[in-house]
This record gives sequence, C-alpha cells and structure tokens, in this order.
Amino acid sequence: MLTAVRNFKSKAHERFTLFEIARTLPLHYGMEGVTEDTYYPFQHEVAEQAVRDWDTKDTSTMQILVETIPINFDIVVKGESIDFERGWTHPVPGEKAWVLSEDAVEQMYNRKVLKEIDTKGKDLASEDAKQNPRIGIIEMFEGARIPIFVNFKKLIRYHFGVFAYTGGGKSNLVSNIVRRLIYHTQNTNILMFDVASEYVTLLLDILNDKTIPSLIVSDSIPKDYDRFYQSSVKPDTLEPIASRIKQAYKPLMAEEKFKRIFFPPEEPLAYSTILENLDGYDVKYAVLVGQMKKAVLEFMRSRGIEEEDPIGPEATQLAAALKQMTQGQKFGPVDLPPLIEQASKEVRRTVKEPKDKRAVSVDELVDELQNSVYRLVILNITDPVKIRKHAVYAAQKLLEIRRKTFRLEPYVLLVFDEAQEFIPAEVNRSDWTAQSSFAIENLLRHGRKYGLGGCISTQRIAHLNTNALQQLHSYFIGTLPRPYDRLLIADIFAIPNEILEKTLEFGPGEWLLSSYNATGIPNVPIFLKADNAETNIELAV
Ligand SMILES: Nc1ncnc2c1ncn2[C@@H]1O[C@H](COP(=O)(O)OP(=O)(O)OP(=O)(O)O)[C@@H](O)[C@H]1O
Ligand SMILES: [Mg+2]
Repeated sequence: MLTAVRNFKSKAHERFTLFEIARTLPLHYGMEGVTEDTYYPFQHEVAEQAVRDWDTKDTSTMQILVETIPINFDIVVKGESIDFERGWTHPVPGEKAWVLSEDAVEQMYNRKVLKEIDTKGKDLASEDAKQNPRIGIIEMFEGARIPIFVNFKKLIRYHFGVFAYTGGGKSNLVSNIVRRLIYHTQNTNILMFDVASEYVTLLLDILNDKTIPSLIVSDSIPKDYDRFYQSSVKPDTLEPIASRIKQAYKPLMAEEKFKRIFFPPEEPLAYSTILENLDGYDVKYAVLVGQMKKAVLEFMRSRGIEEEDPIGPEATQLAAALKQMTQGQKFGPVDLPPLIEQASKEVRRTVKEPKDKRAVSVDELVDELQNSVYRLVILNITDPVKIRKHAVYAAQKLLEIRRKTFRLEPYVLLVFDEAQEFIPAEVNRSDWTAQSSFAIENLLRHGRKYGLGGCISTQRIAHLNTNALQQLHSYFIGTLPRPYDRLLIADIFAIPNEILEKTLEFGPGEWLLSSYNATGIPNVPIFLKADNAETNIELAV
C-alpha cells in the first residue's frame, strides 16, 4: 500500500511525498509498559485486558504502527488530475498520512504505459490473455483488481529477470509473459531454451493456434505424440485435465511443427577467437590478460597472420608460450592455452548435412526468427551441454547478423529458464558453461542496440554470472528464502531490504516487479499477482 504526506514544497496542500508501506505492527499501550521484570500477576492482568481491547475500537490504548519507506516520488494534485514527480522532499512532521486510492494507484502504475502500448481493440477488463495485455493484477485493496501493464518493447530490449525459489511460479510467469508478447506485440519473435522440457505444455494454446507460426525443435523428431507427451513436464495442478492436454498434443505432430536440430558445418577457429576470449576475462586478471594479448598480437604480427586467419599447426608454439605465462594460475586465462593447442591440431570437419526439410541448423533458425518466419520457437533439448552449445551459436549469430544489418526490428527475445545452466559464475570450457556464460553476457550487453532481448529466470541468483545480471533492467522477484540471495538482489538492483523481506510472505504467482523503464513509474517496486498461465491452457484444450 502507498501513503502520501504533505511536504514542505507544498504551497496549497497540493504536493505530497510518497511512501511504500514496508511493515505494520499492532501496539497496545498497556503491553508497551510491561517488561519481563514487571510483577507477574500484573503482566497477566494487562495481557488479558489487551486481548479484550482488540475487539473494541479504543484508540486511546491501541494503535497500528506503520513503517514506510520513501519511494522518491512526489504526488502533485492539479484540480481533478494528479501527476508524479521524481525527487525527495521532507514531509511535514505531524501531518496526516493519506492512503492512495485505487484510482491513484492505477494512474501511477499504468497511465504512462497505456499511452505507450497499443491498446486499440483490446478489452482491458477481460480475463482473457488474448484480449488483455495486462500481466497480472495489483492486490493492494481487498476486492479491487487493478490491472498492471508493462511496456513490452522496453521489457524485451532492456532484458528482464525472474527470480524465485522452486515452485514460486517462474515458468508460469515466463509463459504468461511470452503469451502476452505474442498476442500484444507485432514485431517480437521468441526463442525459448527449454532445458526442463516444460514449455510445450505451458504454451500449448499458442502452439495450437493456427494464426501463429511456431516450431518445436529437438534433437530428434518424436515418433508419436504419446511418447512426446510422456517425455514432457506438466504442472501437477493440471493433472485433472491430463487427458485433454494429451489430446492437444496430437495436432502438434503435424509435419511442420517439429524439426530436428543439427550443428552447422564447423568452420576452422580463427585467431580472432583467441582475442575475443581474452577480452572476456574478469578485470582481476587484467594484467595477465594484457600481457597474453600482447604476446598473441606479437606472434601474429611476426608471421603476418590476420585476425580472420584460421588457427593452424603453427599455433602450437603460441600455446606453449601462453602456457608458460599462466603457470601457477588456478583460474582465469589458464584454460586458453590448451584450447589453442587443441584447435591447432584439429582438422575441422565441414560436414554437409544431407538436405532434409525437417532438419534445421541453429543458423537457419536464427535467420528464420529474425525474418519472422516463426514467432515462437521452443528449443526442447534436455542435454545441458548440447543446449548450451546452441545458445552460444544462437546468441553469437544473432548479434553478428544485427551488427551487419543495423536492424532493430523485429525484436528477438531469447528466454533462458533454469538460467543457472547457462550463466553460472563458476565455469569451465569442457561442459560449455564458459562459452555460454560469455555469449549470453555479450548478448545482454550489446543486445539493446540491436533489438535483441534476454529473459533470465532462475531459482538461485547466487552463483550466477553477476555481469550478466547487471544488464537486466526489469526484474520479477518472488520468494527467495536464502538471505544471501536477497542481499545480492538488494545489491545488484538497489531494492530496499525491507521491501525484499515482504517477498517471504508470497505464495506462487505473487511477485515484486521493479523496472528502470518498462513500468509506468521507474524503480518503484510493485506487488502483483500474475495471471495464471494454466487458465489459458485449460481454456484451450
Ligand atoms: N500466477 C499464478 N497463479 C496461480 N498459481 C500459480 C501461478 N504461478 C504459479 N502457480 C502455481 O505454482 C506452481 C509452480 O509454478 P512453476 O512451475 O511456474 O514454478 P517454478 O518457479 O518455475 O518452479 P521450478 O523452480 O520448479 O521451475 C504451478 O503449477 C501453479 O500451480
Ligand atoms: Mg520452472
């Protein structure tokens, strides 16, 4: 809930400082005067009286203490309308605190967004995801259902995160947002990295919608719908309609809905890869990395090697020299010399896949997504190493294409649920975590210039690549029971701890949303209940 107190800038009772209520506490005058040293019978007497008092409205003995924190906005009343102005002004001590009305709250969070998004022909009162672009409702007043809207373009382009403990509703929310993006934006195409095999069910209605070109891509094409249904994960809550869901898997078997993915013919690694790799290390290795880079450039110069030249047998010497430089190091660029040595020996295969219309390479997929051949592609691959490889190729390829074409649209959103699989803090090259963490961080860093967005969803924010997390401009936070996770969120996203503590009371689907630019009011946390994606599935099957 939000409160407003007239402040010192106010000339004619028109300007108020806004506060978010962080905590409420019942206080009883009698109990306040009792300590553990008070004569016991007296303690009991006061306690018994206090309990009775709570059934009355006696404000002389009882009050509710409300602890608030400023949200650094003023509300300015201009006749019939209100405005919100960023800044902090001291409230007048002793002034009345007003509770913001439903209408004021709605205006505060939605007015700006509703001007920015396309609402023509939409029914903003509808519960149907197809009709209504809202992502949920603000549960601030009993019985009131204030819808909450976000600017989808900014949400994508400046990336968003979804963080909650297991069962908090992350996948549900992600599918809820994806569904809205499909129905309520024109120029957004989405690639989902579905390592837990759950999004075919969660987006069943979209996949079965004939007006939306979509694709499911896996390692191999399923033999029949039954087997595919068995292998995918379904929310327990949908168990009662399991047979209907299974039936809805049937039409998916249509030829064009499934494709098998293969890796594109591998090209020999170029010297530029070595330089790029060196650029990716943490600043704590800056001195060593600088020396190594100098050695690589010197080696190339002395042999007339250009950046795009392939790494050949001559690089064994370079690898040995770099190995010497990294001796004694445990982490950081220590893994680069073996990689160069390996590349120098490898004769890369350039296997041409036989033409098969049901096979697709990551390159082709990326091309098709960014040409709007598909609006939704679900990469249904449960092998973490394989899916990481695809993520690396897709992220690199997308950036490469956009850099060359200078195109901003269509927007392409890459969704990484179970993000700990893709951007962990501790990485190594053999399982491709190093490459995927690097490639995704790069995509997030540069994506906004090219209309490429990322969604990062995970249950443990600790042990993730913090450089990547810092690129997110909007975040949905559910219950995070571990204090360290909350501390990290407070630190990375500058959300007050008192507000984060409130997430501990959340049930599934309840979120704290804060955004630099995608909500109607920047950096003001909003408590919301997301629409349940399962309702859409129930309706569609
Ligand atoms: N918005 C919502 N409204 C009502 N119920 C919800 C909502 N979101 C999630 N739930 C309930 O919570 C359950 C768990 O949701 P979900 O699978 O999305 O959680 P998760 O955070 O992705 O879990 P995991 O960490 O295991 O991946 C759902 O099956 C559903 O019953
Ligand atoms: Mg999940």
